[in-house]
Amino acid sequence: MKSWLCCAGLLAACSTFAVAQRAEAQDTTNNADSRAAATEAAMTDAERVSLLHGIMAMPYGDVKIPEGVPFGAGYIPGIERLAVPPLTETDASLGVSYVGGLRGDGATALPSGMAMGSTWSPELMHKGGARIADEAHAKGFNVLLAGGINLVRDPRGGRAFEYLGEDPLHSGLLGGAAVAGIQSRHVISTVKHFVLNPTETGRQFHNGIIDEGALRMSDLLAFEIAIEKGEPGSVMCAYNKINGAQACGNGRMLTGVLKRDWGYKGWVMSDWGAVRATDFALEGLDQQSGAQLDAAMFFGQPLLDAAKRDKRYRDRIADMSRRVLRSIYAVGVDSNPPREAPIDGAAGAAVAQEIAEKGIVLLQNRGGILPLAASAKRILVVGGYADAGVLSGGGSSQVQGQGGPAVSLPTIEDGPFTAMMAQNYHRSSPLAAIRARAPQAEVAFRDGRYPAEAALAAKNADLVIVFGTQWMTEGLDVADLSLPQGQDAVISAVAKANPNSIVVLETGGPVAMPWKDDVGAIVEAWYPGARGGEAIAAILFGDVNPSGRLPVTFPASVAQLPRPALPGAETVAPSFGGHGKPGQTLDIDYNVEGADVGYRWFARKQEKPLYPFGYGLSYTSFERSGLAISGGADPSASFTLRNSGARDGADVGQVYLVETPHGKTRRLVAFARIDLKPGESRTIDVPIDPRLLADWTAKGWTIAPGTYRFALGASAEDLIEETSATLAGRTWNYRK
Ligand code: BGC
Repeated sequence: MKSWLCCAGLLAACSTFAVAQRAEAQDTTNNADSRAAATEAAMTDAERVSLLHGIMAMPYGDVKIPEGVPFGAGYIPGIERLAVPPLTETDASLGVSYVGGLRGDGATALPSGMAMGSTWSPELMHKGGARIADEAHAKGFNVLLAGGINLVRDPRGGRAFEYLGEDPLHSGLLGGAAVAGIQSRHVISTVKHFVLNPTETGRQFHNGIIDEGALRMSDLLAFEIAIEKGEPGSVMCAYNKINGAQACGNGRMLTGVLKRDWGYKGWVMSDWGAVRATDFALEGLDQQSGAQLDAAMFFGQPLLDAAKRDKRYRDRIADMSRRVLRSIYAVGVDSNPPREAPIDGAAGAAVAQEIAEKGIVLLQNRGGILPLAASAKRILVVGGYADAGVLSGGGSSQVQGQGGPAVSLPTIEDGPFTAMMAQNYHRSSPLAAIRARAPQAEVAFRDGRYPAEAALAAKNADLVIVFGTQWMTEGLDVADLSLPQGQDAVISAVAKANPNSIVVLETGGPVAMPWKDDVGAIVEAWYPGARGGEAIAAILFGDVNPSGRLPVTFPASVAQLPRPALPGAETVAPSFGGHGKPGQTLDIDYNVEGADVGYRWFARKQEKPLYPFGYGLSYTSFERSGLAISGGADPSASFTLRNSGARDGADVGQVYLVETPHGKTRRLVAFARIDLKPGESRTIDVPIDPRLLADWTAKGWTIAPGTYRFALGASAEDLIEETSATLAGRTWNYRK
């Protein structure tokens, strides 16, 4: 095969070939639409269909991976005579993934999606995206299966760690920025999983039931905003059904909402093993991915045959291939082929550390126990494999850091997926980083296997830093919000023995904290990535002022959730694939909360969470004031943030809609993360997306005329200052 993955020695030959072929076969303008149309018109039907299905590029099932194609998630051959490059696909949002250890080379492990979400920084998301795209290119890939932005409707959802949070504006803006960062390096990004896929137990046979209006105002809105901001080349449809129709064969969602209403011009690729029939093409699916995981190569010969006898399929294969081509040209994938090269590990580590430092959330700091005093002489570190590294989440997004995992623990046996579900720790030891910052102290370590042993050691220390971990993975949900394997008991025992206890959490998402009132400080470090140990130490010792804000609500207990019992937990056996028996369906009623996901649900039910959405402490203090709303066609919110403390710090100004003419509500409508020097104040004006002021009705987006109340918040619960604005009514829809 003549490869478009140009290795150093072949570069000159590759590019000459590319240019010559392009000049022959293609429109030479840079317009992606006209170029796609010209190339598509020159294709045979067999060529069209060859772009519409791909294999999983792993030795799995009956498949031959062509020479030179890197192990990864997917591969779609190119069309040499028309200079259409092959698509080489890899996961994902957190770095170039590990594929169960098949590719021996390491990559930069970014912190988890939750950590990224906690930065509230689109700029940092863009930077992280660009970094992993460069690594993808260096490893021979031109498509990243990134952009996971499903809303966290349930904190037990096994992929909560991959996602950015529970709010559509926040997830949409941050996810869109990551996609834009990736594509700025000529690597196509997806957004996924479209749509409504918040839990993993039996994910292949979920049927999410929800009113379309509620969906438009929640999960769909996150996708809509991310697509507008990031213009992803592809959208990956999900495993589940939505209102009875499989996500990848859901004409209402794919053709109706995504392509017709939103005018999406890229292509829809399936999730791996999510296609059930060739007629999904008529519903809006453009490409079958990882086809050896499906019952048949539905988008291969059967699609070609269908196109011969049925005009609807003929029209579709032209449209489907034009969509793939359009994204290739729009992102510049054809003119910027991947170049295999060593990755810049130092640059990757720096970005990973910056995201971790800005995403770590300080939850509690009694008596200013943090930052740690340089005078502490005897420090005890307990648990969490802190002597070896930092935890990461499992599944397709798992990245293997350079040098391989520090610790790798098997979890469940699930055939070919067992390796993807190991509990892996990246090589960045918090213990070593703490020792490096406290050379004057004696820093001891206990692994935390026995509460009594940890408590005894705690008695003899000046202070204790105890780690609590909660591992999450794609394919499985967590059963409850406890720290597994007795860690809550260890923390309680340590806290009783020594009041100067600091808990560092490495969790996928929210956890309950039965020991909260007994410990001094609580630091949520999430899965902090390749330089997580250093980032944790930098926060503990005050080299970095914590600035992360929670992108999800921490419930006090699962009883507060819309579905206290985890859907499917009683009937579905744990497995990565989540396949059911033929015809099996698990109906999940999302109309319970509808569009009121996370903090909105808590506000509606007047439930008090353990920690609210938007919450996070700092080593400095802030004053927030001067909220003013301007209505009109382009509404905006302005407010002033002041650093009233003694250290540099960053605050996140948050504006919530709290009342409409219909009654009380709670919606984040604007936010901005701002760095401030001590004493500095800044007034910021942030646009408000009118969709956040509207409801989706039978006529489309509708703003009812009347008075709207807004609040400036330190979190979704801590509303500091309110103001109101009178808005004119209006209704708009997508149809021109
Ligand atoms: C996951 C996707 C992923 C794909 C390819 C699926 O199991 O749901 O997020 O991109 O595998 O690895």
